[in-house]
Amino acid sequence: MKRIAVLTGGGDAPGLNAVIRAVVKTAINVYGCEVLGIIDGYDGFLATGGVVPLGLVEVRGILPRGGTILGAANRGNPFARKVIRDGQEVVIDVSDKVVEAINDLHLDALIVIGGDGTLHISMELFEKGVPVIGVPKTIDNDIGGTEVTFGFDTALMIATEALDRLHTTAEAHHRVMVLELMGRDAGFIALHAGVAGGADVILIPEIPFKFEAVAKKVRNRRTRGSLFSIIAVSEGARPLDGEQVYSRSGDAIYVPRLGGIGQKVCEYVEKETGSEARVTVLGHVQRGGSPTVFDRWLATRYGAAAVRAAAEGKFGHMVALRNGQVIDIPLQEALAVPKRVNLNGDAMLTARGLGISFGDE
Ligand code: F6P
Repeated sequence: MKRIAVLTGGGDAPGLNAVIRAVVKTAINVYGCEVLGIIDGYDGFLATGGVVPLGLVEVRGILPRGGTILGAANRGNPFARKVIRDGQEVVIDVSDKVVEAINDLHLDALIVIGGDGTLHISMELFEKGVPVIGVPKTIDNDIGGTEVTFGFDTALMIATEALDRLHTTAEAHHRVMVLELMGRDAGFIALHAGVAGGADVILIPEIPFKFEAVAKKVRNRRTRGSLFSIIAVSEGARPLDGEQVYSRSGDAIYVPRLGGIGQKVCEYVEKETGSEARVTVLGHVQRGGSPTVFDRWLATRYGAAAVRAAAEGKFGHMVALRNGQVIDIPLQEALAVPKRVNLNGDAMLTARGLGISFGDE
């Protein structure tokens, strides 16, 4: 293994720099291998200055830093790139050009750090002959085949702190506080932070909810003397008789943007219970800033394991955490079924046992 490259794609997540650092250090220290960084995801292969050398100096001091020193592009799909032709916006497939650029660089491996979308693209590139190794990244924790993705723990810490802070102000004003959390179609952030932050109601995409059940929980709490309530809502949660709420529709490039369900829950609860209610949308705060110790540790292990997998020629594989061990599994297996909250798992049983409402009763 003489030369490898690393890129970060899709939305950022805390721990990306820790992976990059581990890749560079392991590749240089263990394999004496040259490392290239690709700027702004796959776009870097086609842009002037989009490929940069990464040495020990370039990764110094980046372990605790949020974001990614390589930049990320969540519109950077080489199979669907928006360009202007004859004054018109058109979507074209530039994947062959990307493959050509990769071949010209004589890469022995391309380490792709990404979520669902980026890893799907990397699998398609693998099918076109690119020696890809995947590293699962996302605060949503929705990638199959691995117990956890890096970035999730940091998002949980931030969401839980927000719930703690909402608790004190909710109690002071006898209010209902609704916190809308990220996670797309998976409820892991709301479920885990909701339990850790003592939420009374948790609404997740996996369990369609009834507005009235949420109001009932708030009323019941009041009857029993608790004049405030805390509601954690996944952005992807949807009412039983309705749809997910979007703040922007999608197109060939952008996926639809979820957002707004928290406001709807807040309005309903205020109207139907008579309790004053407020909504907070935590948004990208969940993705920014320094990773937790757990995420730094996992990201570092993933980065090192990705280089080892590359050296072993395990292309088309993704590193994953299973039973506390970092292993590698075929990308196809990881991406076959997106991970969702197991409604019969111990996390859900625990939450229900604590008396948390999921809006379904
Ligand atoms: O997948 C990570 C995530 O933060 C989701 O939780 C959220 O729905 C989405 O990305 C937001 O994407 P963007 O950065 O495009 O607003």
